[in-house]
Amino acid sequence: MTDRAGSVASSWLGLTGRVCVITGGGSGIGAETARQLASAGALVAILDQDAGSAEAVAAELRGGGMRAIGAQADVASPEMVVAAAERIEKELGRCQVLVNNAAVRHRGPLVGMSLRDWNHVLSVNLTGALTCTQIFAAQMINGGRGGSLVHVASILGHHPLAQSGAYSVSKAGLIMMSRLFSLELAPHGIRSNVVSPGFTRTPATETVYADSETAGARQRLIPAGRVAMPTDMAEVIAFLASDRAGYVNGQDLLVDGGFDNTLMSIVPRGSKG
Ligand SMILES: NC(=O)c1ccc[n+]([C@@H]2O[C@H](COP(=O)([O-])OP(=O)(O)OC[C@H]3O[C@@H](n4cnc5c(N)ncnc54)[C@H](O)[C@@H]3O)[C@@H](O)[C@H]2O)c1
Repeated sequence: MTDRAGSVASSWLGLTGRVCVITGGGSGIGAETARQLASAGALVAILDQDAGSAEAVAAELRGGGMRAIGAQADVASPEMVVAAAERIEKELGRCQVLVNNAAVRHRGPLVGMSLRDWNHVLSVNLTGALTCTQIFAAQMINGGRGGSLVHVASILGHHPLAQSGAYSVSKAGLIMMSRLFSLELAPHGIRSNVVSPGFTRTPATETVYADSETAGARQRLIPAGRVAMPTDMAEVIAFLASDRAGYVNGQDLLVDGGFDNTLMSIVPRGSKG
């Protein structure tokens, strides 16, 4: 994108000077979202349990002349999130956009799954998003200028994947939680929406796509003809975060290259079907 096109995109989004917090912003979709929001002129806080990667993304953005800080916090720890939120407010200002993106996965069948693994996934993917929303929505309400929540769920929150442990459950819960926020926070001018990514190539999934046979087989299933890159998600997240989506509330946007619509394609039709 040229500078001129970039500046048109920035002004179109209207995010200049807005304080945006991205959980799990140290890697993959979160890191790319931080880049997109910062290049749209936002002041970006990268909140991640991995202090090194949060700071690395923030340093990269500052190196490009953008405003960004890394803030270490485990979203499953309310105390850590409160401390990070206080620091972010002091250094950048009150949060106006929160992207709940941090998540973990533990594979395995539900029957026989340890409560420890079940609780860990829910404590990060679902309760962590609740905690972050409670803490950062308070800043939005105090700021009196509204705000936007974008939660990163998954196609697995729409369709169950066997052996994926508590992950699908956590994402389905996140989708419903967002709908509740969209009602409860609307009086404060705060919108709540979801981006549900399909297959996306990130550090979390790199081992899958490093195997060219699996990568090719997945690619052939997707009408778009390719697996998504983090930018495909980040651009949609930036749109929903912005005032350009100001009348969009309580929605869940499945960003999957059309894969969700392929179910009927697997049905045998015979020569006269
Ligand atoms: N990659 C995909 O194919 C795919 C598909 C559907 C949905 N998603 C969703 O997209 C989001 C980003 O996924 P990704 O593939 O970029 O993952 P990733 O593993 O590359 O990045 C996740 C980031 O979250 C951070 N994190 C994990 N637990 C945390 C915690 N407790 N507190 C704070 N930070 C924490 C990690 O340190 C990491 O930086 C997740 O919500 C994931 O469920 C991804």
